[in-house]
Amino acid sequence: MKTLDVNLGARSYTILVGGRALTRAAAVVEPLGFETAPIIITNRTVFELHGGSLLDGLKRFGPSAIVEIGDGERFKSHQTLFKLYREMLRIRADRRSWILSLGGGVVGDIAGFAAATFMRGIRFVNAPTTLLAQVDSSVGGKVGINVPEGKNLVGAFHQPSAVLSDVSTLGTLPDRELGAGLFEVVKTAAIWSEPFVGYLERSLPRILERKANALEHVVVEACRVKAEVVSKDEREQSLRMILNFGHTVGHALEAATAYRRFKHGEAVGWGMLAALAFGRTLGRMDDRSVARLGRLISRVAPLPSLRGIGIEGVWTALCRDKKFRSGGIRMAMLSAIGRCEIVTDVDPDELRRFLVSFLASPGAYFAPGDLR
Ligand SMILES: NC(=O)c1ccc[n+]([C@@H]2O[C@H](COP(=O)([O-])OP(=O)(O)OC[C@H]3O[C@@H](n4cnc5c(N)ncnc54)[C@H](O)[C@@H]3O)[C@@H](O)[C@H]2O)c1
Repeated sequence: MKTLDVNLGARSYTILVGGRALTRAAAVVEPLGFETAPIIITNRTVFELHGGSLLDGLKRFGPSAIVEIGDGERFKSHQTLFKLYREMLRIRADRRSWILSLGGGVVGDIAGFAAATFMRGIRFVNAPTTLLAQVDSSVGGKVGINVPEGKNLVGAFHQPSAVLSDVSTLGTLPDRELGAGLFEVVKTAAIWSEPFVGYLERSLPRILERKANALEHVVVEACRVKAEVVSKDEREQSLRMILNFGHTVGHALEAATAYRRFKHGEAVGWGMLAALAFGRTLGRMDDRSVARLGRLISRVAPLPSLRGIGIEGVWTALCRDKKFRSGGIRMAMLSAIGRCEIVTDVDPDELRRFLVSFLASPGAYFAPGDLR
């Protein structure tokens, strides 16, 4: 079991990572001084698999209510949010109440947003159960919901009081979800730490076999990087933007395929490949590093094909994205493995030309065999 502190002054909190961490929930909750039992927000899939461990672990802190939301991105909605508020009011929750979320990023994001807004803000503890949620969405305090106009367009910064990442819950995760989370791990390593990239290259088979100590190492290292970045720039004024490496093209691919073809992490996988290839085209990165990261990304999991995705859909989505600023495009790009910078003046015409070619034949940018 490892602990990691996210240093944000009065909003600092601890992340506990380990196998069977849920069974230690009481020890995590005890020092937080809550006066009430938690309101557990979860979904049926996760609660059936892991709710028992959490309830055992909570011991005398047992829940005042268990509220299940629907399973899937479409339930990260204002309708679900209002159901949560009304359920909390029904059980007479007040400003001393607190939320404990058990689930992936969808549950964590909406439960965190309910906590941020109910009675102008109550505390919450996050128990993430997907790799993506353990390495990414549970760290950093971004919470929110989707609206018909776009994903995550309504939200808040609301830091949890603690995070409880039980890596044994990842044992029941579908392979594709594990892969999606791993792409985010590769992103985190690529922007910050060459030794972490080296670890992933060596240990990928053990990670994919879900060996507990390998998963624990991955979650701790990814959280360490994210915590360090977020501690320096909680509200994404500057440095935190490097966490968006692979997301400019990734988001556009997701939107251009109506969020149906790719898991978010898979779109980020393609987005990183595009950012690497584009970076080399611009002379920002050397061939060896691009090939090395390309190989690692393609070893993580198969990426759904780009076939049939036209430039117009991708470009429209990219231009609508928050990252497009008058004249230039803002994009996180690597200058070396472990070093990322925010380039604010990417020439739109150059990027568009590159994307036309990349969408048609991404393999052309990597050596034969480097991309599966
Ligand atoms: N807040 C942030 O900073 C941030 C960062 C990245 C992503 N996100 C958000 O996270 C969401 C995606 O999160 P996700 O990838 O965890 O998806 P998810 O929450 O939809 O979970 C994926 C699927 O796995 C199931 N599941 C969860 N844990 C399981 C387990 N242990 N065993 C078996 N099945 C399990 C879920 O029920 C769901 O069907 C998106 O809404 C995205 O916007 C937020």
